[in-house]
Amino acid sequence: MSTQNSHAQEPKIRESWTGQTGFLLAAIGSAIGLGNIWRFPGVAYTNGGGAFLVPYLVALVAVGIPMLWLDYAVGHKFRGSPPWALRRLKAIGEFVGWFQVFVCFVILVYYGAVIAWAMQYTVYSVSQAWGDDPAGFFVGSFLQSVDGSKELSWEPVAAVAIPLALMWIFLLLVLSRGLSKGVETANKIFLPLLVVLFLIMVVRALFLPGAAEGLNAFFTPQWDSLGNPNVWLAAFAQIFYSLSVGFGIMLTYASYLKPKSNLTGTALVAGFANSSFEILAGIGVFSAIGFMAMNQGVSVSELDGLTGPILSFVTFPQIISAMPGGSLFGVLFFASLTLAGMTSLLSLLQPVSGSLQDKFGLKPTTAALVCGVPATIISLVLFGTKSGLNNLDIVDKFINEIGVVSSAIFLAVLAAVAAPRLRGLRQHLNSVSSVKVARLWEFLVGIIIPLVLAFMLFSSLVGLVSNGYDSYKPTYVLAFGWGCLAFVVIASAVLTFIPWKPRAISAETVSSILESHSDDDEPVGEVAAESSRAVSATEEGEVR
Ligand code: ALA
Repeated sequence: MSTQNSHAQEPKIRESWTGQTGFLLAAIGSAIGLGNIWRFPGVAYTNGGGAFLVPYLVALVAVGIPMLWLDYAVGHKFRGSPPWALRRLKAIGEFVGWFQVFVCFVILVYYGAVIAWAMQYTVYSVSQAWGDDPAGFFVGSFLQSVDGSKELSWEPVAAVAIPLALMWIFLLLVLSRGLSKGVETANKIFLPLLVVLFLIMVVRALFLPGAAEGLNAFFTPQWDSLGNPNVWLAAFAQIFYSLSVGFGIMLTYASYLKPKSNLTGTALVAGFANSSFEILAGIGVFSAIGFMAMNQGVSVSELDGLTGPILSFVTFPQIISAMPGGSLFGVLFFASLTLAGMTSLLSLLQPVSGSLQDKFGLKPTTAALVCGVPATIISLVLFGTKSGLNNLDIVDKFINEIGVVSSAIFLAVLAAVAAPRLRGLRQHLNSVSSVKVARLWEFLVGIIIPLVLAFMLFSSLVGLVSNGYDSYKPTYVLAFGWGCLAFVVIASAVLTFIPWKPRAISAETVSSILESHSDDDEPVGEVAAESSRAVSATEEGEVR
């Protein structure tokens, strides 16, 4: 590969957060997302109510936080986006890194569509545009959804496509400003705003008549559910999705931290802040649901539509229409959903943009365009059309249950088979952090977590292979479900085989390799050899 320009260029300075607070806010902003507001309350309610908090907290402490520490350790120690950082863990790791990047890419193209719905519903709330039939309005008038078991339509839906395009333009402008000026500033504004709006909404919901019944339904423990393995799987899945762990996001965010940064303490704060918000969302949502049940003269258990998009876009509009001051409540709810989604979407974009910057030496603005323009087009074509809801449903199912879980297994196994590295990663965490990580962590990350995840993956695969998905035609599921997984694998392989560009490894990165190894027990000779390989590869024009 040509080296003509490599010596003429300035060494690339890797971006960084302005400080620990900026990173913490961005990490919490990433974790708090659509999953907290529309997913958690329904998942908790249908999996044992108050008793769900037991597997949920076990999953947080035994899997979520240890995986968060793993993400932070790898990202911080190797100072790179997933392909670069995981390549340093083990050669095959670059493929795993790109796999994580493309999992993020697939999620972000449909995640944006849901944010566009929430933006539109923030406006609809003012006039309560859904009238007296929120279900018919959502699926019919708004999404103009076709029957997924029968047809596929590429016809655009203006009410979705226009806010979706506007949202993408805004987010790409933020991303192109770079990490600290763009992503960090957006989180510093959006996250506090989200907390204030959401708190006002929850307090209002708590004072609605019937709120106590809703809370009773939400928190009353069904202890027998603890014997059901599916309840435990639901808790683990919720923690993974909600904490944004195991698929490159937190790894990338941690790579922009300064060398001396408190990793474990920050992870604990981020993890518990996310779960607190999640429980707060459950309280707000079920207070409002209690009001609706009372209004209809039924018990909460007789109500339908308490999970997923239906909860937010059908049940909530019903509540908004029934309550005094409903329009303001609706604006607060949907604006919160929009803000929570945007900070998470930025975090899904950063691994993609950061990887392009690392591998091809692109500037943030160029990388934002290279990943953002295709993302916008795919988002509009697949999810801004009359089949958007069905496409989203299938892609979400496959990428979460198979893509995210496989990505986390790959990461944990990679860390475990690079055995001395797992020890080195723990020592790295301990050398910079306030809370010290015990050896048990190596056992959890290296053995228990991959086993639990493998079981989750196996049960999802068996279900999808033997039963298909919902009432969709098998060819449809093949194209959008299995197809999006095939896309992730093929795209990852292609990117792995493309050589690294000269600017991709900066002088700063090389010095960080040495610095990051100074605190572990890896033989000095090996570190020196590795750094010298990186330096000479840079000088030769590539790192392969
Ligand atoms: N962690 C993000 C969410 O909960 C992805 O939506």
